Amino acid sequence: MCGIVGYVGSRQAAPILLDGLTRLEYRGYDSAGIAVVEPGHPLALRKTPGKLSALVESLKGATPAGFAGIGHTRWATHGSPTQLNAHPHTDCSQQVVIVHNGIVENYLALKEQLLKEGHTFTSETDSEVIAHLIESSMAEGVAFEEAVRQTAQRIQGAQAVVAMNVKAPGRLVAFRLGNAGGITIGYGDGEMFLASDLPALLSHTSQVAFLAPGEMVTVEAANARFRSIHGPAIRKSPQAAPYDAVAIAKEGYRHFMLKEIMEQPGVVQRAIGGKVSFEPADVRLPLFPFTAAQVREVNRVVLTGMGTSLHACMVARYYMEQIAGIPAEVDNSSELRYRDPILDGRTLLVSVSQSGETADTLGAMEEAARQGAKQITICNVEGSQSTRMAHGTVFIGVGPEIGVASTKCLIGSLAALYLLAVYLGKVRGHLGPGRMESLLNDLATVPRLIGQVLEHQGLYQRLAHQYADYLHFLYLGRGINMPVAMEGALKMKEISYIHAEGYPAGEMKHGPIALIDGTMPVVALAPRDGLYDKMRSNIQEVKARGGKVIALATQGQHDLRGVADDLIEVPPSPYLVSPMVNVVPMQLLAYHIAVRRGCDVDQPRNLAKTVTVE
Ligand code: AGP
Repeated sequence: MCGIVGYVGSRQAAPILLDGLTRLEYRGYDSAGIAVVEPGHPLALRKTPGKLSALVESLKGATPAGFAGIGHTRWATHGSPTQLNAHPHTDCSQQVVIVHNGIVENYLALKEQLLKEGHTFTSETDSEVIAHLIESSMAEGVAFEEAVRQTAQRIQGAQAVVAMNVKAPGRLVAFRLGNAGGITIGYGDGEMFLASDLPALLSHTSQVAFLAPGEMVTVEAANARFRSIHGPAIRKSPQAAPYDAVAIAKEGYRHFMLKEIMEQPGVVQRAIGGKVSFEPADVRLPLFPFTAAQVREVNRVVLTGMGTSLHACMVARYYMEQIAGIPAEVDNSSELRYRDPILDGRTLLVSVSQSGETADTLGAMEEAARQGAKQITICNVEGSQSTRMAHGTVFIGVGPEIGVASTKCLIGSLAALYLLAVYLGKVRGHLGPGRMESLLNDLATVPRLIGQVLEHQGLYQRLAHQYADYLHFLYLGRGINMPVAMEGALKMKEISYIHAEGYPAGEMKHGPIALIDGTMPVVALAPRDGLYDKMRSNIQEVKARGGKVIALATQGQHDLRGVADDLIEVPPSPYLVSPMVNVVPMQLLAYHIAVRRGCDVDQPRNLAKTVTVE
């Protein structure tokens, strides 16, 4: 996730911006920059690839003066981490300057229109279109703040943006769309602060306010004015920020698990970061250890992991076969390592382990190494054991996951596995540019789609109130969403201590249907896909036996109303990325039931975050 800071007041802005960016370094980034406005002077824009220290070095003896400014640490998504692609970005005349966190999903169409209008672009990023859109509105006589509001209505996707205008030096305008990172407003004494995260503000103030999705704010040294991006004014009062280190680390959330669930839109952005280009559509894995010839030798992929990582493998089987065109199989690592498998130099073992230290997964990797299989591992921890054992690693880069129940690492693993499959498909000549572009655009919609699911916490609190006292749950799914049923059951087991089983829905008649009665609710994943009709039949079979059904359905799918007892409606999503969206309701259902049952959500009984023993 990118880091954003902003300042307006009576002190020099540059040192405050750099200090704020330093406090956001933990978020990970690959370039940094600041922009400072001084009345009567041209915009001062300083940005560098790499770490903040490079930016600080570049400013030595030439720190720009000015009492208002914005700063940014970028995690590259569209466009590699270069000086030109670093934020802040400006319009053609360097009057408007912006910093951005998120993905402008419709940027290609917007950029084409702006180019036709004569705008000139200097970067490969999607973000730059925001500055030119504001400029375009102002060229029609629209005032700066209104031009920002109009821009907020034209871009699609989940975003957080802060804009400045050289001609309005004492003013910052920010807006937030969806859930790909927020904007916090800090109230000082005759000065105001903006930041994507609390830690950047707390050395200056403990009075803060937060932008909700669909809101914007105009900040001047003495005040902040809030509005909906649709126009009406909004009243907000500053509140006391949490002060203790753990509360700050939780960023105000009650549990790390909820914070990490809420971070998931940004997780996909980071997983894309630096690996994907959209013009032209391409996936780059610069450290990939095998040549094209070696990749073309591969005649099967074996995916292996444990727990949630095993469920990621089950989804990735579809990616390897339907995207890369390679036969694939999935094996629980603790089984694979002991079943004398037949592996060889034409097998690619893809292990998934967010910790990189799971004993059984490492054991399976050792067996694969003994038989000469090629190995790639998907991991979140640099320097961990699995990254040293595999020939190559695709890092998911989602930052530390504190909650024992894995959430954001699953999403990060799925995004990394998806990109690995696209890369393999490209290298094998199985994917043409058109299919690749379509696949990458589908992935780019996921932050917004997850963000839409996250807007409905009230639904899960209501469901928790209704279902927290049941002792058994059955989760059913089909196709690429069957692993999501398995993951939903695992989340329910591990944090609420309720017995829950995940099953392929087609198995129901082969035994589980004997369990159905009013004491065991069924969670049925029935999104609008090629298997919906079969899932609908399963739901009706459960109802016919007096069972209760919580159905996950695609928004607008009204024919399940009156059939299922409760509906969880999710936005439509492309089939192959749908697990990244549909798993989020499973996480939230388990979370809110566990909270209602008074369980220790972040550190459930008997569980360890990393299982380093068999
Ligand atoms: C998931 O919520 C559990 N904490 C557990 O199943 C975990 O996924 C499993 O232990 C694998 O961990 P790894 O990804 O670090 O290998």
